[in-house]
Amino acid sequence: MMGFGIDIGGTGTKGAPVDLDTGALAGDRTRFDTPEKSTPEALADVCQKIIDAFPDAPQPPVTGVAIPAVVQRGVARSAANIDKSWIDTDVDALFTKHLGREVHVVNDADAAGFAEAKYGAARGRGGVIMVITLGTGIGSALIIDGKLVPNTELGHLEFKGDDAEHYAATSAREREDLSWESWAGRLQEYFSHLERLFSPDLFIVGGGVSKDHQRFLPLLSLRTEIIPAELRNNAGIIGAAALAAEEH
Ligand code: BGC
Repeated sequence: MMGFGIDIGGTGTKGAPVDLDTGALAGDRTRFDTPEKSTPEALADVCQKIIDAFPDAPQPPVTGVAIPAVVQRGVARSAANIDKSWIDTDVDALFTKHLGREVHVVNDADAAGFAEAKYGAARGRGGVIMVITLGTGIGSALIIDGKLVPNTELGHLEFKGDDAEHYAATSAREREDLSWESWAGRLQEYFSHLERLFSPDLFIVGGGVSKDHQRFLPLLSLRTEIIPAELRNNAGIIGAAALAAEEH
């Protein structure tokens, strides 16, 4: 079956048709800069441009869109790194109207995590899987025997009197110009804490920085297996399409 996924990020928004049987993109993904005023309406326009870039793609029963916010039954409940006007917006309804096709919106880390569990690094594995995405913020997905527990928001665990993502996200490494070693020290603290709270069977580390996993994953010492994501920058697109189809 064919789906379509779009991943809205703090800097870029990208999308592509997705083969839901294999989890592979069914075309080269298209990307646009996320507008500076990142309101739901402005992003609906960007989504339209992405859909228009694939005139030959079959229209799926539902189009999946991932956003960096808590999403409860299509309604955004937070907005950590996007315009505050998302909060309490019925995004499913707004995007469905704006795009003239059925849209289902999900949290971006939930999308990426679900994709890794279904098609990527944790394919075929059961148990308690925790996917952590390191980027502008920290996103989390908790998957238990293939079933997602949505909106875990573990980037906002309080850490040193602040949000953990402020201390340990990729953006913290860049903002404070940390060496890989000192950033890994912070990740060590963060993942040890998660391990203490959840005792997962597997950690998967996603986000753009996962392509540099050799620079920091070997520096971590945990009792839980920790591996890089496989789908990299496409996980959000793939997972948005797959989760939307699943909930349809
Ligand atoms: C947001 C999450 C999101 C994560 C990654 C966090 O700041 O609260 O909803 O999944 O960033 O984008």
